Amino acid sequence: MLNQTHEYQSCIQSSERVSWRIDELLPKDTELDFSRRFLSDALTGTEGISCLSTEEKLMLNQIRSNSYAHLFLFLEEYAVALAAQRAGLELHGNPTHMRALLRFTEEELKHQQLFSRYTTAFARGFKVAPALLDNQVEVARAIMTKSNLGVLIFNLHMELMTQQHYVETMRDNARESLDPLFNNMLKHHWLEEAQHTRLDFLEAQKILAQEPESLGAALVEYGELLQALRGTLNAQLQLDLQTFEKAAARPFTDAERKEIFEAQERSYVYGFIGMGMKAPLFLSRLRALSPVAEQRVLELAPEYYCN
Ligand SMILES: [Fe+2]
Ligand SMILES: [Fe+2]
Repeated sequence: MLNQTHEYQSCIQSSERVSWRIDELLPKDTELDFSRRFLSDALTGTEGISCLSTEEKLMLNQIRSNSYAHLFLFLEEYAVALAAQRAGLELHGNPTHMRALLRFTEEELKHQQLFSRYTTAFARGFKVAPALLDNQVEVARAIMTKSNLGVLIFNLHMELMTQQHYVETMRDNARESLDPLFNNMLKHHWLEEAQHTRLDFLEAQKILAQEPESLGAALVEYGELLQALRGTLNAQLQLDLQTFEKAAARPFTDAERKEIFEAQERSYVYGFIGMGMKAPLFLSRLRALSPVAEQRVLELAPEYYCN
């Protein structure tokens, strides 16, 4: 059994150092600035849609950004379950491991509350009521039917991707026109996710030290979770397009609808799946778990616009 207690202790210390309060980031009565883009085009894929006017591109960027916040709230439902389950396994075991995992759990609950506050502020200020998925508990339960190792690998992907999202925002060509409030939210989300990625890795190592043969099945589950995520993203995309048509208040032709759908499908899949698979730190962490794990992800990557 690996003794990694100093690593867990270091996660607690880092978590204490970067910890923030929701009220500092997003006071309750915040009014969003709808004159700005919220997320980088690298994550919304709106700028290249030729049939849209400048105002429509801005509106679709904002709808996508709101869905981004909502999807993290949505996905963190399973992350709370995962972290709480891992923490529970250390009850009467290693208190340092348990404390680090309980902080992880608490932070994910806090992130959900932050994103929920954001989507509430968005709904208050946007011209139409945005349509958002509401089956997060059902999805979290389905994810948690997989092995802890499969879900930890999937979670490592999701959490390292939040760093990629922040980096993409910093690289945006017209960064000064992006909303600083949303940038700040991405930054602070990543600051806490950074510790979670270390804990995902440590917990995965813990499982592999006890059951090295479980890796193959966990990698199959990781692939299944990506497919399921693709379905969820597609469902949210259909809702985004409903919201967009209402907000744009003009009928789109079939050809326009097709162009918008295809651009958005590609953007969603790359932004939430491909970008995570390509994250250098994700690949190096997998390699450290087992070269087989990295190899499997590289084989799957082209399916997600990630060549
Ligand atoms: Fe989070
Ligand atoms: Fe997290």
